[in-house]
Amino acid sequence: MTVTAVVAAGMALLAIAPASAGTTLGASAAEKGRYFGTAVAANKLSDNTYVTILNREFNSVTAENEMKWNATEPQQGQFSHTNGDRIVNHGRQRGMLVRGHALLWHQQQPGWAQNMSGSALRSAAINHVTQVATHYRGKIHSWDVVNEAFADGTGGGRRDSNLQRTGNDWIEAAFRAARAADPGAKLCYNDYNTDGINAKSTGIYNMVRDFKARGVPIDCVGIQSHLTNTVPGDYQANIQRFADLGVDVQITELDITGSNQANVYASVVRSCLAVARCTGITVWGIRDSDSWRTGQNPLLFDNSGNKKAAYTSTLNALNSGGTPVPTTPGTNPTTPPPPSTPPPTSGPGGCTATMFLNSWTGGFVATVRVTAGASAITSWRVTITLPSGAAVTNAWSATNTGTTGTTQWANVSYNGTVAAGQTTEFGFQGTGTATGPSPTCTAS
Ligand code: XIL
Repeated sequence: MTVTAVVAAGMALLAIAPASAGTTLGASAAEKGRYFGTAVAANKLSDNTYVTILNREFNSVTAENEMKWNATEPQQGQFSHTNGDRIVNHGRQRGMLVRGHALLWHQQQPGWAQNMSGSALRSAAINHVTQVATHYRGKIHSWDVVNEAFADGTGGGRRDSNLQRTGNDWIEAAFRAARAADPGAKLCYNDYNTDGINAKSTGIYNMVRDFKARGVPIDCVGIQSHLTNTVPGDYQANIQRFADLGVDVQITELDITGSNQANVYASVVRSCLAVARCTGITVWGIRDSDSWRTGQNPLLFDNSGNKKAAYTSTLNALNSGGTPVPTTPGTNPTTPPPPSTPPPTSGPGGCTATMFLNSWTGGFVATVRVTAGASAITSWRVTITLPSGAAVTNAWSATNTGTTGTTQWANVSYNGTVAAGQTTEFGFQGTGTATGPSPTCTAS
């Protein structure tokens, strides 16, 4: 099987592939059950040299800027996914994984969000998470749900930002909304200056431990790894301590400056390969001329697209050693069980509906699962009586009549037909508290 065929066949095969030396970054990583990706800029997809290297070497892509808040929701409620879609389609058509970056961040916010605060901003932010994750639902291997929310320095606490000022629970609200919108994507917290064991990475470690203890959905931690000529001696130990919390670790934005570059790249790769739950590495660009670190030449290919010494040391490190990844990369995680499973409510007309809630102070996202009975249905209606104080603010995959009290929900054109015993889902977001209601379902 050729390398191209191996990649095209999907990486499911590769977790058990024989230990032969791969000849590209992606194929070599895949032999170790991992991916090797790059940040991609949509406006470079017409550059032949760029695309040739991208398609040959990498099996994962991250949108460098195209999925950020300012790019995806330039005006409130008006979403723009054209450039993000171009990157997703380019990758998926070639069997690559796609990392989503980044749903919420204090930087690269649209002007309208920068000018918001309090509950209006919280609501807008959660709506943003819901809408963007829903748009890409089923196509994203891992989402950077929250980016760079911790402060640098000795305190180990949160960074001040408009998002942080909406309340310390904004991060968990974002993760719950992302899970509700795309249950198949791994949900990551991503940050920089977290390469070694330090106050900042320990603050994040404590947050992840707390999330795991309280059942807040989190699956991975991204260590950006923007490095300058050296890597902390406890880089691997730091990766390992996060893995030991029960999350994957991904090296998400690797670039390394300085004369020791080739050695440091090899060291980073060896550290990731040594930890079973370090599941993939992404470099932040292809050629030095593509790097955001202008003039610092921190990447694996020179401005002309030639392989640098750092490329060779990276490939060699990928081809030697390593601990197998226990799970198969290239497949999204199985849909996690819903956070709570109230008994389905029987409706009179051949369907049942079950509602799952992700709540935070002052708001919620509801996911409603419609299950056809013993025979197929072609349309459905769901009634949900919301408690007083709860109000629907927006909905997806269904149309609603009423936003408070008794609300009625009808299928949209593409999800009315459900085979016997099969399910479809719709969702809505609201303010207030929505615990309690048992939906009823009728079908024809
Ligand atoms: C950078 C992009 O590479 C630049 O093109 C853009 O001008 C600024 O953002 N941490 C992150 C990335 O999470 O999104 C940043 O990307 C680099 C630092």
